[in-house]
Amino acid sequence: MASETFKNEKEDRIYMQRCFDLARLGAGSVSPNPMVGAVLVYQNRIIGEGWHKAYGEAHAEVNCFNSVNTADQQFIPEATLYCSLEPCSHVGKTPPCADLILKMRPKRVVIANIDPNPQVAGKGLAKIGQAGIEVIQGVLDDEGKWLNRTFFTSLEKKRPYVILKWAKSKDGYLGKAGQRTPISNPLTNRLTHRWRSEVDAILIGANTAQIDDPELSVRHFTGKNPLRVLLDGKGSVSSNRKLLADNEPTLILGAPRSSLNEVKRLKHLGPKISIQAILDTLMKEKRHALLVEGGAQVHAQFLSSRLWDEIRIIENPKLLGSGVLAPQLPENIKLVEEFTISSDLISVYKTSRKPPYLFDTEPEPLTCFSTTGSPL
Ligand SMILES: NC(=O)c1ccc[n+]([C@@H]2O[C@H](COP(=O)([O-])OP(=O)(O)OC[C@H]3O[C@@H](n4cnc5c(N)ncnc54)[C@H](OP(=O)(O)O)[C@@H]3O)[C@@H](O)[C@H]2O)c1
Ligand SMILES: [Zn+2]
Repeated sequence: MASETFKNEKEDRIYMQRCFDLARLGAGSVSPNPMVGAVLVYQNRIIGEGWHKAYGEAHAEVNCFNSVNTADQQFIPEATLYCSLEPCSHVGKTPPCADLILKMRPKRVVIANIDPNPQVAGKGLAKIGQAGIEVIQGVLDDEGKWLNRTFFTSLEKKRPYVILKWAKSKDGYLGKAGQRTPISNPLTNRLTHRWRSEVDAILIGANTAQIDDPELSVRHFTGKNPLRVLLDGKGSVSSNRKLLADNEPTLILGAPRSSLNEVKRLKHLGPKISIQAILDTLMKEKRHALLVEGGAQVHAQFLSSRLWDEIRIIENPKLLGSGVLAPQLPENIKLVEEFTISSDLISVYKTSRKPPYLFDTEPEPLTCFSTTGSPL
């Protein structure tokens, strides 16, 4: 009996990991919804898979059941449905998945996380359990919360998830004073554009807009452009800078100015805007993941306000000798990932403060299986 339970636990973790891998395919398309993946398994063989592909579209469970081929449909009553998030029990943009599960009646339902959305919050799982289907919760719970850290943060903290990102030279500079200084290599730029595609908004300060004149778009990766946000308290950015002059939307937080085209919006929040006011504004705009791309003054304010969740640093071996100093890393951080891309060292830190969505133990590496059951 004990070894049977152990076997189940191991399998449950493997298939839950597969749910996470599927869920991630929705990154950048599902916000403000969570990324969710679902897998249907019969006798250690995946007979169905699905994920939530885009906001407003079918949930993972629906796509998973729909993917089961005719020959395998007879096995559904003996199968286990794995789902990274609790199936919904409310009518949202789509009908409740809990009702679909009661109709399809798999033998077991295994989930990672309870949905923190007050409209669900355990009700989905309760409904399924009360109908006599075995339910298991909490499989790779911490990893699921990490995957959907943006979603959990916006619901639990009522503010966007904040990622601070900068590139620095080996000797600790963001750039030469007063001049645009490319730092990371072209391969790393592909990654940073991917990071952009995965957030809802991207923010820079006035000096960066003036000096670097970035476009802040997703060009070296596929995906949508996040909303560009410019912090321009005194209105000092020249009107010919891309964020102000081009035909893409920009949200300007700062001083009123004339001659903005119709895709630009301005919120006059005073010359010195608090970080909390920025986050409140973005929350109202339903922008739940924010990437802050500098410069130094802007990063410093996020760090001192402690209103940040993750720091991503790119370090290139070049030496600049002088310039704008990169921010000091705060003390309350934990390295979660470190890897190189050609010449660049990428380090990802999270805050080691104790919000509910963070894990303390390192997740164990898991083998993933393809739909044919062979290891990937
Ligand atoms: N390597 C990298 O990853 C990276 C990334 C970005 C930038 N950089 C470099 O960093 C340098 C720019 O950094 P920086 O520290 O000088 O400037 P910055 O942080 O880009 O911009 C500071 C300016 O933004 C406005 N601002 C900032 N906080 C504000 C607030 N709370 N409310 C209203 N307005 C606010 C203010 O403009 P006003 O004074 O007009 O109100 C302030 O002077 C450039 O050299 C750039 O090349 C490097
Ligand atoms: Zn659902």
